[in-house]
Amino acid sequence: MSNPTHAAITSVASYIPEGVLTNKDLVKMVDTTEEWIDSRTGIKERRILKDGSVSDMGACILKDLCKKRDIPIEEIDMVICATITGDTLMPDTANTICYKAGATKAFGFDLNAACSGFLFALTTGAQFIEAGTYKKVVILGIDKMSSIIDYTDRTTCIIFGDGGGGVLLEPNNEGLGVQKSILKGDGNGRQFLNIKAGGSDFPTSTITLSEGGHYFFQDGRPVFKHAVTNMSNVVKELLEVSSLSVNDVNWVIPHQANIRIINAVANAIDFPIEKVVINIQKYGNTTAGTLPLCIWEKAPDFKKGDNIVLTAFGAGFTWGAVHLTWAI
Ligand code: UT7
Repeated sequence: MSNPTHAAITSVASYIPEGVLTNKDLVKMVDTTEEWIDSRTGIKERRILKDGSVSDMGACILKDLCKKRDIPIEEIDMVICATITGDTLMPDTANTICYKAGATKAFGFDLNAACSGFLFALTTGAQFIEAGTYKKVVILGIDKMSSIIDYTDRTTCIIFGDGGGGVLLEPNNEGLGVQKSILKGDGNGRQFLNIKAGGSDFPTSTITLSEGGHYFFQDGRPVFKHAVTNMSNVVKELLEVSSLSVNDVNWVIPHQANIRIINAVANAIDFPIEKVVINIQKYGNTTAGTLPLCIWEKAPDFKKGDNIVLTAFGAGFTWGAVHLTWAI
């Protein structure tokens, strides 16, 4: 009997905008200090996309994934774009990405699970590979957070940046690829992280605009606590159902929201910080972009068969963890 098909990552790419917004720059914009930002978040700088949109970044990533894998872009079947800053509310951005990149046979859709978006999209896309429906599925996690941030609000503008990345998923019959996934949600958390206006609840009006309802809102302290508890617990649950001990895990890749959250999660799951992938200092929190940016940056150090655990927490609340084994 042949092995069951797994969805394995066979190519990785990223898009890092050229514009750099440093802590020094932010000190000139809001009432803060370089020391406060660095010590409270671990962020030193973040990237800003001056011209263009999520689909422009996505098209570059999609083309790069195919180039690295050395396949024609017409072979791509499907693209899922995890984002909260799509080009427009309607239509979706994934199909625009396919159009701009020339992926003429592909269809796509967007997935909104905020900072957990890449995990939710990876899990969704993997199902199509495991079921044998499609052979080449692209998972993107990209955000242009500068398009929804109020740069007079010191509690949010210091954290977020633009950018993202993506992976190509293909069938693997050696047992490598996505192994297990646990996804969770709690709609009661919506009060702590949201964009109030612009949807069907509060359509855009002169009032919502004057109140700044179109900007990203975050009540940081409760989010911080929920992030630590929920990511730690879901990773422990994942290890248990996967029959893995922390010693079996080669890398943990957490959502990059705050270095103190990352340290607290590593501590709670009793995992050595040297094996936790961290790049928050360079890119800040790119929402759906953080996990693929970490995978892309650390990929040269991964070895075939490595056990990798991804975890994220974000607006919704949404959170989860995925165990995959590296296949390239
Ligand atoms: O990715 C989506 C999920 N998001 C997250 O996971 C983010 C989770 N939350 C956080 O990372 C942290 O809560 C923040 C970085 C947002 C804030 O850090 P904190 O240590 O929780 O600060 P705080 O909100 O408790 O505020 C402490 C103080 C306050 O002053 P008072 O009331 O003690 O006088 C704030 O007004 O720090 C003040 N403050 C600042 N001071 C200088 C808030 N922002 C700033 C700032 N510069 N930028």
